[in-house]
Amino acid sequence: MSNMDTNGVGHENGEVEALPFAFPSRFAQIVGWGSVVPDKVITNHDLEQIVDTSDEWIRSRTGIEERHVAADPKETTATLATEAARRALAVANVPPSKVDLIICSTSSPEYIFPATACLVQDALGAHNAGAFDLSAACSGFVYGLSMARGHILAGDAEYVLVIGSETLSRVVDWTDRNTCVLFGDGAGAVLVAASNVPGGIMASELGSDGSGADALIIPGGGSAMPASLETVSNGSHYAKMDGKAVFRFATRVMASATRDVVEKAGLTIDDVDLVIPHQANKRIIQSSVLRQLKIPEEKVVINVQKYGNTSTASIPIALCEAIEEGRVKPNDNIVFVGFGAGLTWAACAVRWSVPVDTVGKASWWTSTRRQATYQAAAARSMWKRAMRWVYEVLPTDPEGRPIWPEEEAEKEPAAEEQ
Ligand code: ACO
Repeated sequence: MSNMDTNGVGHENGEVEALPFAFPSRFAQIVGWGSVVPDKVITNHDLEQIVDTSDEWIRSRTGIEERHVAADPKETTATLATEAARRALAVANVPPSKVDLIICSTSSPEYIFPATACLVQDALGAHNAGAFDLSAACSGFVYGLSMARGHILAGDAEYVLVIGSETLSRVVDWTDRNTCVLFGDGAGAVLVAASNVPGGIMASELGSDGSGADALIIPGGGSAMPASLETVSNGSHYAKMDGKAVFRFATRVMASATRDVVEKAGLTIDDVDLVIPHQANKRIIQSSVLRQLKIPEEKVVINVQKYGNTSTASIPIALCEAIEEGRVKPNDNIVFVGFGAGLTWAACAVRWSVPVDTVGKASWWTSTRRQATYQAAAARSMWKRAMRWVYEVLPTDPEGRPIWPEEEAEKEPAAEEQ
């Protein structure tokens, strides 16, 4: 056990000595939020045409009525993530150049590498930001909030974008009724900022149980089962799930993670104003948050009926909807709680501090300036690509600088003279 506290240095004898300086008050506040889903909607009735299922079965077992799916091949995890991030930056009125770190949580990344977060960084023109992907499945967005808080409280970042983005429709087997009825596509993002206003992300609780790795898995395409003709033909690149095992695990950890994070934040369950749980299945939310914790339904956000399980995007999408519906107010204590493949679980307790009523009131000039920023980012990206091409085709000097044709022409006679 550590014998350090936040204002002291621990000694082996257990005494705590006060540091000669005071830590500045620093908090990690959510100051911007945004979400997006593809236009294409697939209803349960549409699914009845594809697999042996029924609207009644899907509604009664999951609560899902419809889901949005990225039907346009140009719509990808990165494009959805970029749009959600732009919306979050617009709400906060913060330019992309101020972002220090971009964390993109996803289980359906653009590629194994590079990270989807890097593509988002480029599309935003966030040229001062580090960027990485976070793989914790549906718990990933809440893991990301915890990482953002850590970076901010350590003084390493002023602004961190946390994004959850998925196009799981591209990795589900549309002939497998056990999985294809459950998932949907979408993205959500928040901007977390350093602040001296007390509150914000107050506590987090992260967990993992890798003994359950097989319960929800895409077996093919990694180092354990590299892609081959065989893995493609036997469907190893699709999501496989033991639904019952995941269900049992989820109902247990959703309740315990909520309890633990509330306690860590110095609150009681009664102090919680709103729970935003991962939207996988209405019955999981009912039997964990509602029944086990006895939190009344009006304090719990449920929108799984409209989007299905958008994995790591489900919590930020639900947050944006709760804000739009006027369910989030300054000084509210909000709990985000999720579970997913890994198996993983995560919860964060947030004291909401920013007003939400100024959203969407950007002037014409502000909107035009923002658009211009993103066009400039696209131009900068093209210029960098062009320069990379130039470096490839031109000869370089010993220090790696390109030698332009006219420089070479100037050098040639000198070479001949020798
Ligand atoms: N339509 C009709 N019948 C179906 C369908 C379907 N879409 N899917 C399964 N069935 C059948 C099964 O084959 C089974 O038939 P059988 O009894 O003849 O074998 C029957 O329905 C009952 O199946 P159960 O598995 O008992 O159904 P259950 O009530 O457990 O519900 C479900 C299944 C919805 C998958 C549930 O177990 C669940 O939600 N589990 C959690 C899944 C989850 O949340 N996954 C995401 C995790 S987050 C992440 O990291 C991505």
